[in-house]
Amino acid sequence: MYKILEKKVLAPAMKLMRIHAPLVARKAMPGQFIILRVMEGGERIPLTIADYNPSEGWVTIIFQEVGETTRDLGRLEEGDYIKDFVGPLGRASELDGFDSVLCIGGGVGTAPLYPQIKYMHEKGTKVDVIIGARSKDYVILEEPIRSNCSNLYIATDDGSYGQKGFVTDLLKQLIESGKKYDHIIAIGPMIMMKMVCKLTKEYGIPTTVSMNPIMVDGTGMCGGCRVSVDGKIKYACVDGPDFDGHLVDFDEAMRRSQMYKQEEQQKHDCNLLRMGGEL
Ligand code: NAD
Ligand code: FES
Repeated sequence: MYKILEKKVLAPAMKLMRIHAPLVARKAMPGQFIILRVMEGGERIPLTIADYNPSEGWVTIIFQEVGETTRDLGRLEEGDYIKDFVGPLGRASELDGFDSVLCIGGGVGTAPLYPQIKYMHEKGTKVDVIIGARSKDYVILEEPIRSNCSNLYIATDDGSYGQKGFVTDLLKQLIESGKKYDHIIAIGPMIMMKMVCKLTKEYGIPTTVSMNPIMVDGTGMCGGCRVSVDGKIKYACVDGPDFDGHLVDFDEAMRRSQMYKQEEQQKHDCNLLRMGGEL
């Protein structure tokens, strides 16, 4: 059982939890993820590691309450326990050897970007960051990111904070103003990563994305997290989650991510009725 040491609400339906998990914290590297089960018999869900401290033995996760399991998780409080917390899983991000990197985080996808930004900043790499969010309330990790990068740019869809528009608008402006990056890392909604990669391909800048498909076992056995990369089948849990964004088939990945939406809605409706609610 894994104790929740801290719980914070970061944005509407977006929560941070710091979990006591010394074995995971000891081995964690930027880009890796964990799979958790809130309770016995519950669904297994993957969540990217948002921070970790090997000496204090904790790992931070940040999640959006989008399905039954994340809502169950969100109802737990400080001092409560999570049944299973397995990891670190996946391959660590390749972050060494760059001079100047632009990191782009969209919404809750900003969370897994933070350990990567921190790692590169500590190694002396020049890191610029773009955070994109729906509105001011959804901008997360602004201060810790600001203290670990050279320049931070913020875009909100509604213009309530930073520049009005998408991350791709800022990306285009930065490149066209003469900024030079030898690598770009983008993490966020699939459509954002697709549009970022479309632009960076035109500019010829290598781009890494982190894929977040449906996962079941997290060990390469079930095939749930299949992604097509350069026409070949890859499994995000063991071959990723990072891939060369210019080679990922985002359209297929987006179709696959919608596969169980109907079942999820049915389960949500059943639980709501069972608890005496109305549809
Ligand atoms: P969101 O829908 O609020 O979008 C965040 C930002 O992405 C927007 O503010 C915008 O700047 C950009 N964006 C959105 N659509 C775009 C488009 N068409 N063109 C260019 N830019 C666009 O994000 P959210 O609701 O916080 O969702 C975050 C997503 O991130 C979820 O789908 C989740 O699955 C994913 N995620 C991915 C990882 C990962 O490791 N890959 C980790 C956590 C979350
Ligand atoms: Fe089963 Fe990746 S989650 S193969």
